Amino acid sequence: MPSIKVAILGFGTVGEGVYRILQEKREEIKKSTGFTVDVVSILVKDKAKERMPIKGAQITDNIQEILNNPEIDVVFEAIVGEEPAYTYLSDAIEKGCHIITANKTMFAKHGPALLKHAEFRDVQVGFEATTAGGVPIIRTVTNLLAGDRVKRIQGILNGTSNFILTKMRDEGSSFKQALSAAQQNGYAEADPTDDVSGTDAFRKLMILSSLAFGRQPDWEDVPVLGIDHLEPDEILDASKGDLRYRHVADIWKDEKGKLQAAVGPVLIGADHPLFGIDGVDNAVIVNTEYLGQLTLVGPGAGMYPTGSAMVADLLHVIRQHEAILVPN
Ligand code: NAP
Ligand code: HSE
Repeated sequence: MPSIKVAILGFGTVGEGVYRILQEKREEIKKSTGFTVDVVSILVKDKAKERMPIKGAQITDNIQEILNNPEIDVVFEAIVGEEPAYTYLSDAIEKGCHIITANKTMFAKHGPALLKHAEFRDVQVGFEATTAGGVPIIRTVTNLLAGDRVKRIQGILNGTSNFILTKMRDEGSSFKQALSAAQQNGYAEADPTDDVSGTDAFRKLMILSSLAFGRQPDWEDVPVLGIDHLEPDEILDASKGDLRYRHVADIWKDEKGKLQAAVGPVLIGADHPLFGIDGVDNAVIVNTEYLGQLTLVGPGAGMYPTGSAMVADLLHVIRQHEAILVPN
């Protein structure tokens, strides 16, 4: 049976999720694709850290051991921050590996360069997990673009913020208690400032902008506010008046074709499609010229939703790979 050899960079919430799903679905993947998927290397920062038992893969803190292994076909990346992630993935592409990333901090800025580089080297880039966790918004917008034009994208793109707003409203939790629960569930970033300040949702919006409109607005022109801007009383008072605060990221083309965008808490009523989106769920509303309006809803963060988005990207790579291996 032909085998796809993969490396996972980062073995925290997301990297471990990818590993677990690949183990749990090993037989199914084999049956549906005709390939076995073998995790051969895992990159971490601290090799001494206690981890779940790992079979058959080498744990390393040296990226060169992965980049110099000619057997590796696909590199998953789930580490934190712009660097060294961008350099590692550029090097992996240069070596001819397909890459699959969950790292939106890196991808919002360097995604266009990585995609160009990958096209030149004839490899693929999976980035479904960078935006809205397990919600397949990247694949959906990519498919829509084949025969349509996106006019506007509006959504809840940060699971931690939505989770905190829900807990404060429904359970009377304090901001601190709700954030701590989001951290325990693996939803929040290593430094949660990006979640609660709106920066994380902004980066996801920029990834969607590149995909849907082929460009991003000037970052300095986009107003970005987080839920850390709201007083607890404001959240509770709104719900008494049948209104809810949602953290909304919004991008659209104005009449002159200029991209306009905004990120921040918005007070909405029961007739709005984002009104009923609770907990860690994300929702993305896409307005297009021909289809009209489409809304996708689902878990926006966490080990399994994010891992499943990355494994879905892998299956896409394998199907393309198979087409290369078995020409007509
Ligand atoms: P995490 O739990 O903090 O795990 C990060 C992992 O990366 C750890 O295993 C860490 O190694 C490793 N790492 C960090 N810096 C490294 C470096 N310089 N070299 C090698 N390894 C390094 O983070 P996470 O929640 O899994 O998130 C990973 C990425 O996915 C982030 O970019 C995040 O924004 C994104 N993401 C997260 C979620 C989510 O729900 N958590 C969802 C979508 C996307 P050690 O284990 O040795 O410390
Ligand atoms: N911290 C992010 C969130 C993880 O809460 O949405 C998913 O990108």
